[in-house]
Amino acid sequence: MNDAGKNEPVKPRQVKEKLQTKLFGKAIHYFSKVGSTNDLAKELASLRAREGTVIVAGSQTGGKGRSGRTWASPKGGLWFSTILRPKLHPRETPKLTIMSSLAVAKTISQLYNLEPEVKWPNDVLINAKKVCGILTEAKTSGDTTSFVIVGIGINANIELQSLPEQVRAHATSLRHELPGIIDCEQLLHVLLEKMEHYYVMLQNGKFHSVLVEWKRLCRFLGSYVEVMSGKKQIEGWATDVDRDGALILKLPDGTSRRILSGDVNIRRGNGQGVKSLMHPRES
Ligand code: BTN
Repeated sequence: MNDAGKNEPVKPRQVKEKLQTKLFGKAIHYFSKVGSTNDLAKELASLRAREGTVIVAGSQTGGKGRSGRTWASPKGGLWFSTILRPKLHPRETPKLTIMSSLAVAKTISQLYNLEPEVKWPNDVLINAKKVCGILTEAKTSGDTTSFVIVGIGINANIELQSLPEQVRAHATSLRHELPGIIDCEQLLHVLLEKMEHYYVMLQNGKFHSVLVEWKRLCRFLGSYVEVMSGKKQIEGWATDVDRDGALILKLPDGTSRRILSGDVNIRRGNGQGVKSLMHPRES
């Protein structure tokens, strides 16, 4: 954290100088304002930008969330996308979302001594409120994954009033949870190192170990949840996340359903829900 009270733009050179990575952040491009860092990253990936290239923006005018939703991205947040070229079958790319949410949660607990929670598949929460969302977009052809863009949005130095009203009730920011200003360069630097660590594990066939760590930070397993799939709502107990990253739901009739993604609403003890933004698609 930075007590001087300055909310500075990320300077790529400063981040790169400190990075102890072989892949992530070897190229970092900063823009004070873009439409969406994911869209820009996709363009660069199509032009053969190297793996690990990072696009960071001070603000986004067309920030994208899951399911075609918008993602409010005012100045003060950490909005960035990374280009990856993983050796993964297209159906395995959701593993990158799990791996990235673990990296975000670990970074937040290491830097700020907070106790973040991960929620399947793309959210990081603090005190049951969303502080980070992840949008993973893949370019695939048949059985081949050409590239994957992992877009991460962290509400760092965001005043909650600057978020749209419907988002605010379920969102928080690091600024809101902590006394000082967040140093976004430090946040990006530590996060890229953690992402590389888990990415290497994944590429070496150790997703199981990544998932074990992720589950330790996941408090919603065992809870009764509602999953929105289009206009359909499925309710049940979230019993597990399997080795492909799919959610296993035990329905009230005793049968099990495997869910690849959806809008999950956790029923907490008081019956209040926490909304997660995920795109609906069932297996
Ligand atoms: C979600 O709906 O939870 C996912 C939000 C992802 C937002 C990030 S911000 C950086 C990157 N660029 C985008 O347009 N979206 C992602």
